[in-house]
Parts: sequence; C-alpha cells; structure tokens
Amino acid sequence: MPLHVLILNSDAELAADDKHLLEQARKASENAYAPYSRFQVGAAVKLANGEVITANNQENAAYPSGLCAERIALFYAHSRFPDIAVEAIAITAKGNKGIIEEPLSPCGACRQVMAESEKNSNQPMRVIMQGQTGPVMIAESMKVLLPFSFLDDYLHRYTNTDR
Ligand code: THU
Repeated sequence: MPLHVLILNSDAELAADDKHLLEQARKASENAYAPYSRFQVGAAVKLANGEVITANNQENAAYPSGLCAERIALFYAHSRFPDIAVEAIAITAKGNKGIIEEPLSPCGACRQVMAESEKNSNQPMRVIMQGQTGPVMIAESMKVLLPFSFLDDYLHRYTNTDR
C-alpha cells in the first residue's frame, strides 16, 4: 500500500491532539540554545503511554558537539521509557530573519534515528511538521521520509551479534 504525506493549509485543520503536540513543540523551540545558527527548533514526542517529551536544539562553540531537537527528544524519551512506543513527533522552527511559512523537514541524521525508533516501536511514527505558520505536513510513517533505510536487521544478517 502506498504511503502518503498529507498537506494541510494550516494547523487549524489538525485534529486537536496533533495541534496540541505542535503547540508543545513550538513552546519548546522558545528555549532552544542556538546562539550560533539563530535557528530554534522544537520537537514534541507523543508516547503510547500518553507521555509527551519535548526538546529543542542545543548548540556548542565546538559546532559538531551540538544536537538537533528531534534526536534530543527521542533519545530522552527512550531513556525514560525504553519500552514505550512512539506514536508521533511534532517538529517546528523559527529563525531570526522573517517568518517561516513552510514546514520544517528533519535532517538526515534525525531521520535515521527516527526510523530506528519507529522500528522498535512496532508501529508507524506520524511526523507532524510546520514552520511558524502556514501549511502543515504530516508523514504517516518514517518509511515516507526515509525510504530504503539502513536498519538493524540488515546489520544483523551479516554480523554475529546477540540482537
Ligand atoms: N536542527 C534541528 O534541531 N533539527 C533539524 O531537523 C534541522 C536542524 C538544528 C541544528 C542546529 O542547531 C540548527 O538547527 C541549524 O542547523
């Protein structure tokens, strides 16, 4: 069955739960530590037990030491609730120049981490993406955002490890 990305005109068209998750991501973006890029990202992860974990990007003077909002949110969610599935992640961003009116599309490294989270969750992860305003993009699974992904089953077919 083909997988889809849904594009809504605005967050007014979202279901109440999704809208709330996006609002939580937006609120988290306010606390981003982004003195180098001036690009503040917020992420909110909804878990199957009802918990919502929010995070934002954290930068560092040694640039590569920083980390994206999505990975901080997911890693923290898994560190607190290792066996709980992720149902959805909402992502949003703002810069210091103009209003972002297009959805924020997660970076490649985050997609890789999101794909593994989805696999371990045994259910599709919905990804809800927006800028500060304007259209909202919803991917119904990470399979849409990262097709042909490299996952642990491939690794374990060719290595002698426990998992
Ligand atoms: N960033 C995220 O937090 N998530 C993304 O999906 C894209 C990029 C952060 C990393 C860096 O702190 C800043 O945005 C500029 O790249």
